[in-house]
Amino acid sequence: MPPRTAVMLLLAVVLLAAVPAPARAGDPYAYYDWEVSYVSAQPLGVKQKVIGINGQFPGPALNVTTNWNVVVNVRNALDEPLLLTWNGVQQRKSAWQDGVLGTNCAVPPGWNWTYEFQVKDQVGSFFYFPSTPMHRAAGGYGALTINNRDVIPIPFPFPDGDITLFIGDWYNAGHKALRRALDGGAPLGAPDGVLINGLGPYQYNQSVVPPGLVYERINVEPGKTYRFRVHNVGVSTSLNFRIQNHNLLLVETEGSYTSQQNYSNLDIHVGQSYSFLVTMDQNASTDYYVVASARFVDPSVVDKLTGVAILHYSNSQGPASGPLPDPPNDQYDTAFSINQARSIRWNVTASGARPNPQGSFHYGDITVTDVYFLQSGPPELINGQLRATLNGISYIAPSTPLVLAQLFNVPGVYKLDFPNHPMNRLPKVDTSIINGTYKGFMEIIFQNNATTLLTYHLDGYAFFVVGMDYGLWTENSRGTYNKWDGVARSTIQVFPGAWTAVLVFLDNAGIWNLRVQNLDSWYLGQEVYINVVNPEDNSNMTDLPDNTIFCGALSSLQKEQSHRFQYSKASPVAQWRKTVSLMILVAWFAIWS
Ligand SMILES: *[C@@H]1O[C@H](CO)[C@@H](O)[C@H](O)[C@H]1NC(C)=O
Ligand SMILES: *[C@@H]1O[C@H](CO)[C@@H](O)[C@H](O)[C@H]1NC(C)=O
Ligand SMILES: *[C@@H]1O[C@H](CO)[C@@H](O)[C@H](O)[C@H]1NC(C)=O
Ligand SMILES: *[C@@H]1O[C@H](CO)[C@@H](O)[C@H](O)[C@H]1NC(C)=O
Ligand SMILES: *[C@@H]1O[C@H](CO)[C@@H](O)[C@H](O)[C@H]1NC(C)=O
Ligand SMILES: *[C@@H]1O[C@H](CO)[C@@H](O)[C@H](O)[C@H]1NC(C)=O
Ligand SMILES: *[C@@H]1O[C@H](CO)[C@@H](O)[C@H](O)[C@H]1NC(C)=O
Ligand SMILES: *[C@@H]1O[C@H](CO)[C@@H](O)[C@H](O)[C@H]1NC(C)=O
Ligand SMILES: *[C@@H]1O[C@H](CO)[C@@H](O)[C@H](O)[C@H]1NC(C)=O
Repeated sequence: MPPRTAVMLLLAVVLLAAVPAPARAGDPYAYYDWEVSYVSAQPLGVKQKVIGINGQFPGPALNVTTNWNVVVNVRNALDEPLLLTWNGVQQRKSAWQDGVLGTNCAVPPGWNWTYEFQVKDQVGSFFYFPSTPMHRAAGGYGALTINNRDVIPIPFPFPDGDITLFIGDWYNAGHKALRRALDGGAPLGAPDGVLINGLGPYQYNQSVVPPGLVYERINVEPGKTYRFRVHNVGVSTSLNFRIQNHNLLLVETEGSYTSQQNYSNLDIHVGQSYSFLVTMDQNASTDYYVVASARFVDPSVVDKLTGVAILHYSNSQGPASGPLPDPPNDQYDTAFSINQARSIRWNVTASGARPNPQGSFHYGDITVTDVYFLQSGPPELINGQLRATLNGISYIAPSTPLVLAQLFNVPGVYKLDFPNHPMNRLPKVDTSIINGTYKGFMEIIFQNNATTLLTYHLDGYAFFVVGMDYGLWTENSRGTYNKWDGVARSTIQVFPGAWTAVLVFLDNAGIWNLRVQNLDSWYLGQEVYINVVNPEDNSNMTDLPDNTIFCGALSSLQKEQSHRFQYSKASPVAQWRKTVSLMILVAWFAIWS
């Protein structure tokens, strides 16, 4: 055999061996190798441990294209069990990869676990975060961007650049202290500040912002149009986002193209994602402020709860100056924010991940099969413990994940008796979940009887937002529903003393988390799951991955703990090894030919 052919053969064998069995042949794979560990940071001037990924805070971006398979090997180098969840990614028929306590055993410290999922038929701006209790308050989040395939047009000119911003309230105390406070029955109180991309505010005013904080600077070219993907990854505070002297052209939210509209500012609630086109059409006499400021909080704390980054044109004449751009002046106008929310509509003629129009599924014509009226109350004491409820039930996570309990017929882990309206009875702590109907069309009305704004998120699906108003929802409220261009998304706000109604087609089998995104209320039990079983699919929930971690009643099924790894100081070892082998091969090839 001539040496050249031998090398080619060897190369082919090595490359084939490196690619795992093609579960969904044809679609490309993207591999990520992550080590999650504490890293030291001081975003607001106070040194603390934050959760970093490969030493980065925020974590690295997952930047993929519709239908790609994503493989993420996660090594847990924290001192606590860990799960990452993929906010807004639908995990078609694969609740195994959802990464919440109802679907997966948390990865113990010192173990690794490899997520593998396909980003099927989705395009848009999403993010990932650690779903384990209160971990997001310490970081661990990053972008999950799903690009369109080249063959599917997008409903706007291709932007000149992509800029991702994570905005969020922040506590210096750290997630363990926050958990202790809630365990002790104390509400969290006001945060210490608002971060943009893990950094503190620019010192726009010396009497408000201390000196020496590192802030985010966004470099742009004059005349260009950038796509800003903005995610509220905070603990619990709604934020108003705006850029001095620049319009925000809203084009997409959580996987749906919106009817394009300019906003001078937009309220972004906890867990929500939006993308805007911003044209650099100013004369760069100065830099410009990028602002995220707290909403619906005591005016005396707004100065402190304002994140400020800098937009820097390459031809800028000097630093940003003057007051920050004004927030909405609606202290006494509760309608402003809700009207703004209602103005966000779906562009029904644009195509999403597929060539057919987004509105080709006429949700307004479909008969509703199940109605769930979910009322949230303010946190209250149940058996002496501070808890938050939905329909009077505060969810408690069982030690055996729901999905595993179902597959292995473990009795007594959960009950399928979650009530479809508040019951006139004492609140309780329970593991009661919603019995959904496969291919049913569910109407969910969130009635917020707490005193703060809450956002709700459903895993596994996008729902159609059809109505939102103050007061108590009644049957007559259905007359106000938007049956035509309500946007499909996965996280929606419910104003205090108000309701929001959504419709969802339960075509994705699995057990899916329906949670409040505000971390304190979530921690206190304001969540439930929806069980959706496809009666015709007897290999229910598809195949159990062979790397499944077992816990609770199923601990004895856990194979030998081959997961253990040597902590590396944030060096992606596997990646390095791969690169070196490839370099050796290339060198051989060069020598032999
Ligand atoms: C993400 O991927 C797209 C498509 O491959 C590419 O055009 C874009 O530059 C990438 N963005 C980043 C920030 O890497
Ligand atoms: C992590 O998990 C995968 C399989 O799930 C395994 O192949 C790999 O060797 C493990 N170890 C490390 C250190 O990443
Ligand atoms: C909706 O999408 C279509 C198709 O891409 C596009 O031409 C149109 O400008 C969009 N309309 C709005 C209001 O966003
Ligand atoms: C700085 O902030 C203080 C307190 O809010 C305010 O009184 C003052 O006017 C601000 N200074 C400038 C230059 O805006
Ligand atoms: C949005 O504002 C920009 C200027 O910043 C303008 O060029 C554009 O036409 C506006 N688009 C819409 C849909 O109003
Ligand atoms: C352009 O820059 C000059 C200073 O160089 C400033 O006075 C003027 O207001 C700016 N115009 C606009 C539209 O921003
Ligand atoms: C799922 O399948 C297993 C057998 O593979 C069966 O024992 C179990 O009852 C099924 N669960 C449901 C909810 O259908
Ligand atoms: C759950 O719903 C299915 C139909 O969707 C029904 O057959 C089953 O009996 C229900 N289970 C319980 C416990 O209510
Ligand atoms: C909460 O519900 C009670 C009775 O259901 C009602 O009297 C009260 O006004 C509600 N509060 C809010 C803030 O909606």
